[in-house]
Amino acid sequence: MSALRRGGGALVVVAAAGIGFLIWRRQKRNLPCPSSLSFLLENPFMSRVAGAELLLDRAGVAEGMRVLDVGCGPGRITLPAARRVGPAGEVVALDIQESMLERVRQRIDAQNVTNVRLLHAGAGEGQTEPESFDRAFLVTVLGEIPDKAAALREVYRALKPGGVLSITEVLPDPDFQTPGAIQDLAREAGFEVGEKLGGFPAFTMNLVKPV
Ligand SMILES: C[S@@+](CC[C@H](N)C(=O)[O-])C[C@H]1O[C@@H](n2cnc3c(N)ncnc32)[C@H](O)[C@@H]1O
Repeated sequence: MSALRRGGGALVVVAAAGIGFLIWRRQKRNLPCPSSLSFLLENPFMSRVAGAELLLDRAGVAEGMRVLDVGCGPGRITLPAARRVGPAGEVVALDIQESMLERVRQRIDAQNVTNVRLLHAGAGEGQTEPESFDRAFLVTVLGEIPDKAAALREVYRALKPGGVLSITEVLPDPDFQTPGAIQDLAREAGFEVGEKLGGFPAFTMNLVKPV
């Protein structure tokens, strides 16, 4: 009974923080999600609708691949991706906020991970190597990026021919991007629109760089 009450209390705290965040976000568009709110990304709801293993499956991440995690946040996708690609692969975790990268760094050290490289940069600034990644991720990030077209152009350039950019959007993220808006941006950058997986409250759209 007390465990039930504790669980309910935790839910109320997460919901209240989420509502506060939504209100704050409406006033501060295009600002990156603060690292102090990482718990809004790592909770049972996100694990259920947009968990790392599900998103890695949807993007077809496999052993030996090079993966670019754009807007990696605290490393929710980065670390499972590193385990999946194994020692023959590599994950580059890019984020505009050093405080987010510091969280990833702490996890890398704690878990003795050797195949993750951190990149402190804004998406669209052109800091990634051309034609060197098999897969790229933008998970609840696109809406926070001021120049979305430049960001997609950079990812397109960074992918190998045949490579896939997997974009996931989750409601009620205040920066949620619709499938239609993503398709328009994707075609403008040169991508072919591939599969759309999932639906409400979270969907993934795979965009393919033509061979
Ligand atoms: C809502 S979090 C998502 C984190 C992670 N992808 C996940 O699903 O757990 C958005 C992340 O994108 C980063 N971000 C926002 N704008 C960015 C930009 N212009 N370039 C790179 N990263 C950015 C933020 O710092 C934040 O870590």
